Amino acid sequence: MVSRSSFVIVANRLPVDRTIEPDGTASWRRSPGGLVTAIAPVMQRRKGAWLGWAGAADEDVEPFHQDGMNLVPVPLSAREVENYYEGFSNATLWPLYHDVVAPPVFHRHMWEAYREVNERFAAAAAEAADEGAVVWVQDYQLQLVPAMLRKLRPDLRIGFFLHIPFPPVELFWRLPWRRQLVEGLLGADLVGFQLPGGASNFRRLCRRLLGLPYKGNEIFLDDRIVRTQAFPISVDFAELDTMVREPHIITRAKEIRAELGDPEHVLLGVDRLDYTKGIGQRLRAFGELLKDRRVYPGEAVFVQIATPSRERVEQYRRLRDEIERQVGRINGEHSMFGHQPVQYFHQSYDRAELAALYLAADVMVVTPLRDGMNLVAKEYVSCHHDLQGALVLSEFAGAADELRQAYLVNPYDVEGVKRTLLAAMRATPHELARRMRTMRRRVATYDVDRWASEFLTALET
Ligand code: ADP
Ligand code: F6P
Repeated sequence: MVSRSSFVIVANRLPVDRTIEPDGTASWRRSPGGLVTAIAPVMQRRKGAWLGWAGAADEDVEPFHQDGMNLVPVPLSAREVENYYEGFSNATLWPLYHDVVAPPVFHRHMWEAYREVNERFAAAAAEAADEGAVVWVQDYQLQLVPAMLRKLRPDLRIGFFLHIPFPPVELFWRLPWRRQLVEGLLGADLVGFQLPGGASNFRRLCRRLLGLPYKGNEIFLDDRIVRTQAFPISVDFAELDTMVREPHIITRAKEIRAELGDPEHVLLGVDRLDYTKGIGQRLRAFGELLKDRRVYPGEAVFVQIATPSRERVEQYRRLRDEIERQVGRINGEHSMFGHQPVQYFHQSYDRAELAALYLAADVMVVTPLRDGMNLVAKEYVSCHHDLQGALVLSEFAGAADELRQAYLVNPYDVEGVKRTLLAAMRATPHELARRMRTMRRRVATYDVDRWASEFLTALET
């Protein structure tokens, strides 16, 4: 029996992943992705419970405490991982919601698994929530939970936040289960999106699909009103700002530059290895700059950190091969003894090492083809109290709405990306400071605490 809480987070994943080593021993590792980065500090500052999958199939793990959080595992079988997580969540919804940059698959058995797993999460939330509690459901993997939970526990205040973009009606329309998904979301009292455009796509969809009237942010159901609003997610600015002032991080940043051969320019990419992130596009632009001799080998190093992600999904496997081939080709053509222009790491790093990397980088390259927000861009800005460093940012990342002083690019325009990379590399310290100062002001004021408290205040009133 789980003890009941007045505040419950429900997310596909817990903030830690249970990994089983080849010798059978189990250990915990931080889970990948922006959701965990944002929700973990919020949860550490509020008492409550976090329900989610522990990251390994067919494992029944008891509730436990970690880093000041009460974590309640929701089990998934191997078949559910395949059909609900890898299938419907990441081969159907993920590409559909990201501008169809890869073709989504539509399979009935995957939908069935999605529905069943959403039922399980709703039941677990109903059990974990105290009378009148606030339950905050997260992201596209759990869009049916709000309505299922409301049916089980009409006394709760239910919020939902979508971390990824909400697509235009014309794209969403393809989904054979479009009605069920929308009705699922409408079980919430408040549905939050990253950008106003996502919220308005959703309202238009409700009108066209279900004939529901809306006015301003409010959608009118027969017996209730559902609020829809944008809350751009953010990072723990103060934590990063403090971390990069610590002597061991400053020393580590210098070491990283020295290990790279002290080039004039360090360019950095940090992403989950995902086809929406535009990693191939940025490498292509950098490779062409070397080829055109507009950048000289030895002058610049491109460090690409790519966290392993969704490795059993076909598109992700293919992407890994493509990126590794591309890195090999650029290095094969442009390396010199003791110098490789692209340093590629298919690994995860701890927060301290990431902070040192951000601090060491002159140009942060964030070029997604579509991204709900992109916290990496905001993390980089948080790490540059020196007011140096250039952020090259895709117009298709949610973060571009707030970080207007970044070097904005269209990742589909190779020549444009090349020009912008050069402009960022050649910018004067004065120009960099001017841009960075304004971006830091935005991230410092609208940090992750503000994001959570604005959402929760809107939900509770
Ligand atoms: P997404 O949620 O799609 O993964 P975001 O950019 O919003 O994209 O968030 C990614 C988060 O994961 C950031 O907090 C970033 O610091 C973290 N991250 C990305 N790559 C790595 C890595 N190789 N090692 C550790 N953390 C990483
Ligand atoms: O919103 C981005 C997101 O999909 C989160 O829901 C998720 O936690 C993160 O990226 C990482 O993805 P995954 O949990 O599939 O590894």
